[in-house]
Amino acid sequence: MVIKDKSFEVFINEKQINSRVKEIAQQISAEYKGKDPLIIPILNGAFLFAADLIKELTIPCQVSFVKVSSYAGMESTGVVTKLFGLETDLKSRHVIILDDIIDTGLTMYSILQQVKVFKPESIEMASFLLKPEALQKELEVKYVGFTIPNDFVVGYGLDYEGYGRNMKDIYKLKG
Ligand code: IMP
Ligand code: MG
Repeated sequence: MVIKDKSFEVFINEKQINSRVKEIAQQISAEYKGKDPLIIPILNGAFLFAADLIKELTIPCQVSFVKVSSYAGMESTGVVTKLFGLETDLKSRHVIILDDIIDTGLTMYSILQQVKVFKPESIEMASFLLKPEALQKELEVKYVGFTIPNDFVVGYGLDYEGYGRNMKDIYKLKG
């Protein structure tokens, strides 16, 4: 599979993705029973993970998408911008921040700090993918789909220069 100038190969297939999403949803449904969690997915990358996960939750929950961007091309710029779009009052809420991937962790760390300001009852993080080798911040991510090596990946919400988000499998850079 080719996007622009790069070749990619399947790394995690649709079936593996779906079954892992279901497992995480079951875990969250059990752990947040009676807690009315507020799920905060980070756009754009988390849109598919969020949609799939939320459909599988068996408990009442609310969803508020936010936007922040720290990435250009294939290397994290480390420049983390402000959080946009948080409309719900977080006081006394159990918040779960959701992202597609945690790479350096700078984005998630920055979002976490900004969410903390609103003093929610609790905050946990969920990321479909985690690259432990790339991590530059200490983050306790409670829900992780897969830990992966430090490879560049696309698909299932993840993009290469804006493309590839719609693909049902997750691909990694070939070679
Ligand atoms: P971090 O701040 O370095 O953790 O980067 C987080 C953001 O960078 C993610 O939400 C993604 O949008 C993007 N990103 C990190 N690694 C990859 C990758 O391998 N493929 C595509 N996007 C990535
Ligand atoms: Mg992202």
